[in-house]
Amino acid sequence: MDSYKLLITGGIPLMGETYVSGGKNTSVAVIPATLLSDEPCTIENLPDIEDVRVLKDILTDLGAKVDYLPESKRMTVDPRNVHSWLVPYRQSQRMRASYYMLGALLGRFGQAEVGYPGGCSIGARPVDQHLKAFRAMGAEVEERGAVITAKGKMHGTPVYFDRITVGGTINAMLAAAKAEGNTVLYNAAREPHVVDLANFLNSMGCRVRGAGTDVIRIMGAPYLHGSTYTVIPDQIETGTLMIAAAATRGDVVIRGCIPAHMEALTAKLLEMGVAVSDMDDAIRVRTVRGHRAVNIKTQEYPGFPTDLQQPMSALLTRASGDSIVIETIFESRFKHLNEMQRMGARVRILDQTAIIEGVSELYGAPVTATDLRAGAALVIAGLMANGTTEIYEPGFIERGYEHIEEKLRALGANIRREPLEAQEMRF
Ligand code: EPU
Repeated sequence: MDSYKLLITGGIPLMGETYVSGGKNTSVAVIPATLLSDEPCTIENLPDIEDVRVLKDILTDLGAKVDYLPESKRMTVDPRNVHSWLVPYRQSQRMRASYYMLGALLGRFGQAEVGYPGGCSIGARPVDQHLKAFRAMGAEVEERGAVITAKGKMHGTPVYFDRITVGGTINAMLAAAKAEGNTVLYNAAREPHVVDLANFLNSMGCRVRGAGTDVIRIMGAPYLHGSTYTVIPDQIETGTLMIAAAATRGDVVIRGCIPAHMEALTAKLLEMGVAVSDMDDAIRVRTVRGHRAVNIKTQEYPGFPTDLQQPMSALLTRASGDSIVIETIFESRFKHLNEMQRMGARVRILDQTAIIEGVSELYGAPVTATDLRAGAALVIAGLMANGTTEIYEPGFIERGYEHIEEKLRALGANIRREPLEAQEMRF
């Protein structure tokens, strides 16, 4: 339980300029990939978030020399003395992306023993497709207790994913980077962070072709040299800031982002009547008239991202008309809407579908963040609401958004943290 809560007094239009930090879901793939290198690597533009700190600990425990100063956003990893392929459960359950240690260690040693991953509770989140890829490449995989053990010399092979999986695609790329021969991934994920990992592997001397399409070819290289690599800006943070600007009827320029990654969200905001203009590496979002209701169906990239469904559905609670939101990727991603009913939102949830009847006013209430993006959605809700919203368990939000409070305050938001009272700690 977090020892503090976030307080947001809403109703203030966000105004001014802000910037986007490095991508969470790309950093958590690129950092494990440094284990595949035969020389030191430097990763730049890393966000200062919990997942990056956990990965630093995991790599250090394995024997890597890691220099990381969050203020510099740069991590240097010298993996030459890594002597272990074991990531114990106590470490692995600190984050979701610890499953990338399986692919990275298999790629490096032909052996990995990694505890089950933790992360947000948004659905069952099986890893069968990851394990299927490892097995196809020559690993014997066992799942025992809370640990997955994989062993075998990796060799190139075709892998067909039964469903599109970001994590499975990235894990297979990691395992294949040093494999003998060519690996071809069919029905691969096309997310920007898959492309970013491919670019990093290529910068080390691997040959990855086709990332960004649904067929990725990896020609393994026995020796990978060191590289200095800058991760891409965070697509989901960009989108969350865009939604926050629209939700408060503000006027915000978001710098340091990649507008091409935001097309699905931009199209929906335009459909709602929000003005969105793209510049080279910036997006301006402003509201010139009321928001119309729109329908959303989450899909794999380049469809509407599931990670933006929660902030977007918070925005839709105040649009004029009814919106239908269909979540196709994860089973439990509407918990924020249940919380928002206490703030005056009118919502009906039937399995994977939420029907949102727009209301003209939300009011502040105590709410609890249940996962990272639910937390972001509740921040959006708090910014829109009249009065003060108290968000419990805000630690979830900081796991994925660097300095979010400071960024919103700089745009004019009234957001602050307060320690919990003794009676609040009892729940
Ligand atoms: N799936 C399987 N079997 C598998 C793998 C996935 O059935 O072996 C299913 C999942 O249960 C889900 C769907 O396939 O229903 C897609 O899952 P995917 O593997 O693409 O998701 P992930 O790798 O677990 C990553 C991000 C998520 C993001 C999803 C979808 C990281 C660390 N996590 O998760 O990010 O929602 O892709 O884009 O990159 C977040 O940032 O808040 C977050 C949850």
